[in-house]
Amino acid sequence: MFLTRSARLCRQSNVFFPLCSSQVSSSRTMATSSDSSSLLKYSRNVTNGLGRITEGIMTSGKGSYVEYDDGRKMLDFTCGIGVTSLGHCHPKISKAAADQCMNIVHAQCSIAFHEPYLKLIKKLLPIMPDPSLDSFFFWNSGSEAVEASLKLARTVTGRQNIICMQGAYHGRTFGAMAVTRSKTIYSKGVAPLMPGVFTIPFPFWHQLGETPDLSESAQVSQCLYQLDLLLSQQTAPSDTAAIIIEPVLGEGGYVPAPTAFLKGLRAVCDKHGILLIIDEVQSGFSRTGKFFAIEYSGVRPDIMIMAKGLANGFPLSAVVSRTELTDKLTPGSMGGTYAGNAVSCAAACAVVDAMHEENVLSNVNARSAELFSALNAIKTAHPSHVLDVRGQGLMVAVEFASPAGPGAVHDAVAAPREAAVAAQMASRVAKKCIERGMLILTTSVYEVVRFIPPLNITKEDLKKGAEIFREAVEEVVREG
Ligand SMILES: Cc1ncc(COP(=O)(O)O)c(C=O)c1O
Repeated sequence: MFLTRSARLCRQSNVFFPLCSSQVSSSRTMATSSDSSSLLKYSRNVTNGLGRITEGIMTSGKGSYVEYDDGRKMLDFTCGIGVTSLGHCHPKISKAAADQCMNIVHAQCSIAFHEPYLKLIKKLLPIMPDPSLDSFFFWNSGSEAVEASLKLARTVTGRQNIICMQGAYHGRTFGAMAVTRSKTIYSKGVAPLMPGVFTIPFPFWHQLGETPDLSESAQVSQCLYQLDLLLSQQTAPSDTAAIIIEPVLGEGGYVPAPTAFLKGLRAVCDKHGILLIIDEVQSGFSRTGKFFAIEYSGVRPDIMIMAKGLANGFPLSAVVSRTELTDKLTPGSMGGTYAGNAVSCAAACAVVDAMHEENVLSNVNARSAELFSALNAIKTAHPSHVLDVRGQGLMVAVEFASPAGPGAVHDAVAAPREAAVAAQMASRVAKKCIERGMLILTTSVYEVVRFIPPLNITKEDLKKGAEIFREAVEEVVREG
């Protein structure tokens, strides 16, 4: 990896990658990483509420790599948090957006249709996980789409309460924050949030205070039992509008929902007229080896939310439901100035085309098998440090052991420590990957590193990333 003199200095002075436990640095603590970047002095004028995992200015991106102003070239295993799934600046997607810029940029959704909006619906309809999903609303961000889905559920059921999952992440706006249960940081100090939200555990051994060897069926029955209790003790079915769930828990630790659990939720929803909202913001658009992760279970969503990979970096999200439900909405009750932007929709049309034309799903499945094999080999080599390798497709995580014990987050409830395990393994490993030229993220309140490489990544680049990760793990294990 090439480093400028000032970047090397920053690294030596230990501020090059100043990661806190959540792997994010404050803008106020940023150090200048390039002599040439006089712009960086304005980083002091960026809100402290934002954090980032690298120093410097990202100036360009091509395929699986990004470059910084000081010449650093990094292999990108974050995809901008699961967004640039077909690689940075995919030529066909960028061209579709550029062409659209020369036609019309802003054909506001309450003024008129624009062509890319309707073309996108035409392309999405055949890939929906259930043919009943035939009524779309496009917005900008995942959080906005979550808000719209909650509003839709409340409006069409006439009920108020929402059930969400422990460990869920749905965004940082007020409704989305209310159904987010992955970290307190997102809503700490800003209550009251949207009322009427209830939580059940997601079938993940951590949330049941267990160890990774607890059987899936035991986890599922525990969680469905908790749902049953919730509906008898806290929120009556007749007051409950929706259950919202990510088919692969993202910020909660990259945990695929077991099919039996999703089927159980579907059965409860059917019994009580509750709507099932499937949030595919992170898991959708081929990320997990199918167009949508919910396809693994065959469960029908009543409402499904998409964003991120949908437009490969252009801001676009979508809520899809069935006309039978959305016909109950009053025209004008949904909308937004920038909702369903024409340039973003044109980019999304090119994304769907590229997914078909470039056989992206078969690449995801081939690279996924290679990634799992490489990560499982690391687990075998370091059994007391690596607790778990999990995920689906190219949404994969490695969980490290924590000194607090396998079933605990806080020392107060820690099981006795069995092995000498290093503290904060996930953020330390991620930091070392970054130093070696690969962008990678942690996730959850546990010691988890997540892999979100481009879906069209080559065999060579995937191998390179796995190798960087292995070296980083070995270094942290050596350091203790
Ligand atoms: C599952 C899920 N839902 C919703 C969101 C919120 O999306 P956005 O950040 O675009 O508002 C995210 C973002 O990471 C997500 O992963």
